Amino acid sequence: MNTHRRAASKETDLPALICIGVRSSSGAYNILYGRGLSQGVSELLERTKAGAGGLALAENTGVFLLSSPRVWRHVGRKIMFGLDRTAVRRPILFDDREARKSMATVERLCRQLVWAGADRRAVLVAVGGGVVGDVCGYTAASYLRGVRAVHIPTTLVGQVDSAIGGKTGVNLPEGKNLVGAFYPPKLVIADPDTLATLPNREFRSGIYEVIKYGVIGDARLFSYLEQNVERLASRDQAALDFVIPRCIRAKARIVEQDEREAGLREILNFGHTFAHAFETATAYRRYLHGEAVGWGMIAASRLGVRTAGFSSDESARIERLVRHVGPLPSPPRVSGKRLLEIMGADKKTRGGKFRFVLPLQIGKVKTVADVPPDAVHAVLADLGRPSERNAS
Ligand SMILES: NC(=O)c1ccc[n+]([C@@H]2O[C@H](COP(=O)([O-])OP(=O)(O)OC[C@H]3O[C@@H](n4cnc5c(N)ncnc54)[C@H](O)[C@@H]3O)[C@@H](O)[C@H]2O)c1
Ligand SMILES: [Zn+2]
Repeated sequence: MNTHRRAASKETDLPALICIGVRSSSGAYNILYGRGLSQGVSELLERTKAGAGGLALAENTGVFLLSSPRVWRHVGRKIMFGLDRTAVRRPILFDDREARKSMATVERLCRQLVWAGADRRAVLVAVGGGVVGDVCGYTAASYLRGVRAVHIPTTLVGQVDSAIGGKTGVNLPEGKNLVGAFYPPKLVIADPDTLATLPNREFRSGIYEVIKYGVIGDARLFSYLEQNVERLASRDQAALDFVIPRCIRAKARIVEQDEREAGLREILNFGHTFAHAFETATAYRRYLHGEAVGWGMIAASRLGVRTAGFSSDESARIERLVRHVGPLPSPPRVSGKRLLEIMGADKKTRGGKFRFVLPLQIGKVKTVADVPPDAVHAVLADLGRPSERNAS
């Protein structure tokens, strides 16, 4: 990974930006972070040089914007402002509710791309949150056996997590993200200005993923959040500029070393084995993803105390920070047995054994295979109650 900062140059109106390079199996790509970048998309495509053996992004037969009606209403005008109209087609908009993150949506998008004349030199630009990014990334991986993808994430989750690292995919009725592909993008453009219109609850949902980065590898970020989480929640510019690039770097470092989740990348799943079970058990209706991760991190921390020697003081710090972000919908009213069954069907379960990413200390986690189901059950049974250390 290489990182550099560039100030606005004399020849261009582009604002100062941070550029984080990521090496991937299908070539290196850049993640650009900067205020106002979404208003200069054509110029950014123009500047993105060809990787080894590939084409430059500017060498394309059409730029196809994919987004949702809601996202487009908020950011469409900004994006169109910085696009060379001759290369751009009318945006293709689709419903970005989690329930529509499906094969049916991918098929419809592929057909719309055919009708719009997209060929193998097309560039697809996904504008939206994680749902738009995951669906469009998978569409790009599949359409004509692969066309180039660019991501413009417009949610906090998108900017710190889903747009980075090339995991794409859709849900089946049987479970979340069960069909997909590893398909790294050619460029990611993260503009914090696009976050201004995000509803508060959606923004807070992203903060839980930010806390995750603190627990899995960045004790300094965790302490910063303990002091500044309210500033971040109010979208203070300095807080965003500190937090978002720091998370992007962390994720870039991890996926570079382990693009296909053979080992290290698993740490990004901290809190997620529980979270996915909570989301599945409530048919994806009760929690935003990040909120489920909030509960999942509390559960994983308590499980760490029970089974991995994690200190109860540090567990209480995690719990306090998660609860400080804002109200969480209460834990699912589903039996522990049912939740264990759902976890048994999770992609992260291997050979029927429960695998959890558990904290050893704030800033350090490890994957534990073969966690006793009784311990998991005990954590689930108590989840709604504050831990003893936070109760007083
Ligand atoms: N691929 C990965 O590595 C990865 C990582 C994390 C999460 N995900 C996936 O991402 C999805 C969650 O993504 P998300 O949290 O970004 O939510 P989301 O994509 O569901 O978007 C949340 C809501 O905010 C709206 N929205 C988006 N941008 C907006 C803006 N700028 N202004 C106003 N409204 C806006 C959307 O229309 C949507 O209603 C889940 O499906 C999850 O599985 C994928
Ligand atoms: Zn997540």
